[in-house]
Amino acid sequence: QNIRKVALLGMGTVGGGVYKIIEKQKNELIHKIGAELEISKVLVRNKGKYANLIAPEKLTDQWSDIIEDDSIEIVVEVMGGIEPAATYIKEALQKGKHVVTANKDLIAVQGHELLELAKTNHCDLLFEAAVAGGIPIIRPLNQCLAGNEITEVMGIINGTTNFILTKMSEEGMDFAEALQLATDLGYAEADPTADIEGHDAGRKLAILASLAFNSPVTFQNVYTEGISKISAKDIRYAHELGCEIKLLGIAKNTEDGIEVKVHPTMIPQSHPLAAVNDSYNAVFIHGDAVGDAMFYGRGAGELPTGSAVVGDILDVARNIQFHCTGRIGSSCYKNIPIKDIKE
Ligand code: NDP
Ligand code: HSE
Repeated sequence: QNIRKVALLGMGTVGGGVYKIIEKQKNELIHKIGAELEISKVLVRNKGKYANLIAPEKLTDQWSDIIEDDSIEIVVEVMGGIEPAATYIKEALQKGKHVVTANKDLIAVQGHELLELAKTNHCDLLFEAAVAGGIPIIRPLNQCLAGNEITEVMGIINGTTNFILTKMSEEGMDFAEALQLATDLGYAEADPTADIEGHDAGRKLAILASLAFNSPVTFQNVYTEGISKISAKDIRYAHELGCEIKLLGIAKNTEDGIEVKVHPTMIPQSHPLAAVNDSYNAVFIHGDAVGDAMFYGRGAGELPTGSAVVGDILDVARNIQFHCTGRIGSSCYKNIPIKDIKE
């Protein structure tokens, strides 16, 4: 069999991007993974909404059409939310199906348990898109930088709030108008409170800190403060001081434990992070061997996020082709104490 069959759970911003990229790359994929890739089922709630996009025999609103189909080897969860996504992912792994997800909400709270389940079932569970959209950051931390002791991870990891702050700073746009624009462009979460209040960045930071410090950090460990209280006056004041306001996620491995926090920060305009605008994200990493490394790119949106998801799908497909699935995932955490900095 030289066809790898994929089921897509969700056909919204990210699912649509994944679909478009795979369609466009169709003829190239055989050279990249040594097999054809077929999206054989697409799960949505409202089939009517997608009737013009997806062939009727592929479109389903029934999870049983996917979980009971043994020819589907890769399940791509891009629906979002905790349930039913968590149940579907667990059932897929238990049936030996490999999983790719963009769901940071879920990975930030149940990622450790899901990785264990993947390991037990010899499956891949990849989530490159869950942090910083199109920027490769999970794999670099997990693999390329594995030879380092990482002491700090810091950056702009929410596209919506960075877009809002950029529009307020550069165009004097008001908060609500900038948020509406970010929503129309597909950057914001279904409930944008998660973006604005720093929860989305907090979830991504928990994932990054877990990988960087090889310890099970969850969203509950992260201090979060969002940008809802930032006014035009604050931005004018920052400009007078030669600064920009950015929502930063900062994770440190200090002598007395791990510290993870998200809050608006004044950054001198000369600092590289001050020039990271619109929906762009940037992540700084300090490792004892590599020194400083910075990753920059589009942190949200249809095609950038689709790019990260498709990269994961191709990795899984290649792993299946070459009989080496289940390679990724932390297996022995150090369990460094995590500081309580909620107050
Ligand atoms: P959307 O809201 O645009 O799309 C969600 C899709 O999932 C829709 O097709 C919806 O179908 C389907 N869906 C939702 N719930 C169910 C369900 N219970 N059963 C079946 N289908 C369901 O979300 P996004 O594409 O923006 O986000 C998807 C995931 O990717 C989320 O986890 C998000 O956090 C993450 N992500 C998003 C990024 C972005 O830039 N948007 C970037 C990085 C990660 P229907 O229309 O029929 O309801
Ligand atoms: N809402 C998220 C953001 C999507 O604005 O960064 C990408 O994770």
